Amino acid sequence: MWENLIQKAIGQLDHAYAPYSDFKVGAALLSSDGQIFTGCNIENFAYGPSNCAERTAIFKAVSEGVRDFKAIAIVGGKHGVIRDYCAPCGVCRQVMAEFCSPEEFQIILAKSPEDYQIYTLAELLPKAFSPKTMADFQTSEEKESGEVEQK
Ligand code: THU
Repeated sequence: MWENLIQKAIGQLDHAYAPYSDFKVGAALLSSDGQIFTGCNIENFAYGPSNCAERTAIFKAVSEGVRDFKAIAIVGGKHGVIRDYCAPCGVCRQVMAEFCSPEEFQIILAKSPEDYQIYTLAELLPKAFSPKTMADFQTSEEKESGEVEQK
């Protein structure tokens, strides 16, 4: 079921720009309306401006007006060789929490199109600080008046 998405993530390893770490990562994000947005990591000589593959994919989608997501496939490895499952970093998990439903969003960590593990966002980022957190802190009066927009 996830083979195509994983293939797209693997294809991104060829585009990864990782001259400093030589650790290449590819991601493929499936939106709720069936589109696929790919991403690779993009490093920078100043290190700080580097971007992870997952965020590249998410930001591409959001910049195209797409914000509802079902799943993301992730692959990675030194020299672009996949030896193990590559889990998303904390910053990428936080960015996922901005747009994705914690219980429903599927994070697929793959070694190959046939060999993968699936986690929900809630499993990889328990007790997330997310837009839902803000809603939980609202008083009942604020909720009634719609003062703070709920996700
Ligand atoms: N990297 C990703 O692209 N995604 C992650 O979730 C973990 C780390 C990248 C960042 C950097 O270019 C390289 O992997 C080594 O950390």
